[in-house]
Amino acid sequence: MNKQEVILCQGLENSLTQAIDKCPHDKLFILTDEHTHRLCLPKLEGMPALQKAEEICIGAEDVHKNIETLVQVWQTLSERGATRHSLLINLGGGMVTDLGGFAAATFKRGITYINIPTTLLAMVDASVGGKTGINFNGLKNEIGAFAPAACVLIETEFLRTLDAHNFFSGYAEMLKHGLISTPKHLDELLAFDTERPDYEHLKQLTGQSVQVKEYIVEQDPKEQGIRKALNLGHTVGHAFESLALAENRPVLHGYAVAWGLVCELYLSHIQAGFPKERLRQVNLFVREHYGCFNFDCQHYERLYELMKHDKKNTAGIINFTLLKDIGDISLNQTADKTTIFEMFDFYRECMGA
Ligand SMILES: NC(=O)c1ccc[n+]([C@@H]2O[C@H](COP(=O)([O-])OP(=O)(O)OC[C@H]3O[C@@H](n4cnc5c(N)ncnc54)[C@H](O)[C@@H]3O)[C@@H](O)[C@H]2O)c1
Ligand SMILES: [Zn+2]
Repeated sequence: MNKQEVILCQGLENSLTQAIDKCPHDKLFILTDEHTHRLCLPKLEGMPALQKAEEICIGAEDVHKNIETLVQVWQTLSERGATRHSLLINLGGGMVTDLGGFAAATFKRGITYINIPTTLLAMVDASVGGKTGINFNGLKNEIGAFAPAACVLIETEFLRTLDAHNFFSGYAEMLKHGLISTPKHLDELLAFDTERPDYEHLKQLTGQSVQVKEYIVEQDPKEQGIRKALNLGHTVGHAFESLALAENRPVLHGYAVAWGLVCELYLSHIQAGFPKERLRQVNLFVREHYGCFNFDCQHYERLYELMKHDKKNTAGIINFTLLKDIGDISLNQTADKTTIFEMFDFYRECMGA
């Protein structure tokens, strides 16, 4: 897989013009959703490099990350005369970069695309790493391809219009990156004033965070080994996300990840010696900023089954990424049912569920 270039923009116009120049093309398309059309596209208006760009706007949110929207994008590209040499720019959150990336990967067997992520989650996670796709048959990301963008342009100015929920959703992935990298980076994240964000500082933290992901993906693009480090918090997190959805009280992905981190750091403490003080610090941050996902012991069996059926497992054995310490990663760990139930007890006790 080609390495994708990730650029922390000092000025979006300059970076974008250079990125477009590096991708020779006949026609230029820009994919937005109805929110980024309104809130983000105006920030690109008047740029000479985009003068001839044609917009394709799709419905917002994950309900639209489906085959029908993908067909709509293919259809529009076809009707407007896109060729193998056309260029697509995805301007949006992870929904737009995932679906747009997959549309680009498949149209005429693959056209070049550039990502301009506009949510924090997309900046530090979704738009980087080459995974693209759509939901299908009720399953998340069931259809997709590894197809890296030619370039990812990160402009944190877009975050000024992002609501607090989506901000914290992305911030959970940053905490995860802090945990799998260095104590210094984690400490900075825990100390950041999320109520009154300093956007310059946020830009710097976002840059560091995306580098953590890039560094890991570079070593293992197809998730055969170390890329699994990025699954920290996700084994339990996905189970929370699914349970919440099934009970008609959906939660944003990053919230489920934050609660999943609390559980998996407990497991890391019990099984791998992760320091208790660090566990306490992260738990406090999560409780304060993410609240608590409520469930009782009658849900344990259901959560356990959901974890067993996660697509990351082989032969029904639940696979965890655990930490011995910050940045000291243990892949392919498992835990018995009793320990997992104790983990749920711990979570409920310390989070007040
Ligand atoms: N490919 C990967 O490796 C990867 C990794 C993580 C997540 N994902 C995918 O990413 C998606 C979630 O991404 P997301 O959280 O960015 O969701 P999203 O794209 O649905 O964006 C969330 C909401 O924010 C709006 N929005 C976008 N930018 C905005 C801005 N600057 N100001 C105000 N509102 C804005 C969107 O229109 C949407 O309503 C999921 O589909 C998930 O599967 C992919
Ligand atoms: Zn995630």
